[in-house]
Amino acid sequence: RPRVLSGIQPTAGSFHLGNYLGAVRQWVALQESHDAFYMVVDLHAITVPQDPTALRANTRLAAAQLLAAGLDPERCTLFIQSHVPEHAQLAWVMNCLTGFGEASRMTQFKDKSAKQGADRTSVGLFTYPILQIADILLYQAHQVPVGEDQRQHIELTRDLAERFNGRYGDTFTVPAPYILKETGKVYDLQDPTVKMSKSASSAKGIINLLDEPKTSAKKIKSAVTDTDTVIRYDAEAKPGVSNLLTIYSTLTGESVTDLEKKYEGKMYGALKTDLAEIMVDFVTPFRDRTQEYLDDPETLDSVLAKGAEKARAVAAETLASTYERIGFLPAK
Ligand code: TYM
Repeated sequence: RPRVLSGIQPTAGSFHLGNYLGAVRQWVALQESHDAFYMVVDLHAITVPQDPTALRANTRLAAAQLLAAGLDPERCTLFIQSHVPEHAQLAWVMNCLTGFGEASRMTQFKDKSAKQGADRTSVGLFTYPILQIADILLYQAHQVPVGEDQRQHIELTRDLAERFNGRYGDTFTVPAPYILKETGKVYDLQDPTVKMSKSASSAKGIINLLDEPKTSAKKIKSAVTDTDTVIRYDAEAKPGVSNLLTIYSTLTGESVTDLEKKYEGKMYGALKTDLAEIMVDFVTPFRDRTQEYLDDPETLDSVLAKGAEKARAVAAETLASTYERIGFLPAK
């Protein structure tokens, strides 16, 4: 079985629709066909200031949402990044192999640090992608299911894997991004030319899966479309309608072509009303299941403990061979 690995940050509390359609949905599908490792990346979360109590609660909440979304601990390995110390250890090695200029070209860092200003930007945020590289390489992952915004980090991971292998001999699997064309970038409902994002989207532009279902329905109904009236997929000319069609199609399994036929001659309002209902039907059980996992902390803890144990077995082996290749003297 080929291996996949991916991670999600716990910081936002609720996952948003972009997280789900762009990544988590694929995680659930891939556990059937792949040896799958998925984690909540709390080490990445602290690259910006976090309140300790909130971080702990949000880490639990992220794990509960992943289970509610359909991850099955019998079929995949679900764990918390900080439970596996090898992540930080391999990250150091990768830090030493990455060029300063190379890291400086990461667009997510450039955007975030420009917004915060240099004095409020941590060195951790700068090396964030290097930690991500360690996450992926530790598990010898063949594929990394993520949204489009992570592509550059996966490209850097490939470069570093090849660099290490070239310098020290074959050690790491060179991973490929697994990004779906349709949902790799889910757009903001109010500004459908930019991605839906916790940090940049307005409250009305983002669907938080744990919000009141009524709230999410309202946001769908007030999504920005265009002054034309035809319901047709055209990402360039009609980004708002196209985004709604993509969301609709992914949640129901109906193809976009079928949806165009179904709504021929109808108004945008009809599409939005139906999609609002589909959204309510999707988020309602998701919220309930998340709450059930939160209400049963023993089960959640035991899932995470088993996951960490399985993850560590793999991670420790990779780290040991990495240390050996580099020339570290083994501890006796
Ligand atoms: P994070 O927590 O920001 O996002 C989790 C996943 O959601 C995807 N995503 C989207 N996909 C489509 N449309 C959107 N609007 C949208 N917004 C977010 C992201 O691409 C991501 O897949 N650096 C990662 C976490 C990470 C990781 C890793 C991923 C840490 N280590 C190792 C893969 C492998 C991040 O911040 O994701």
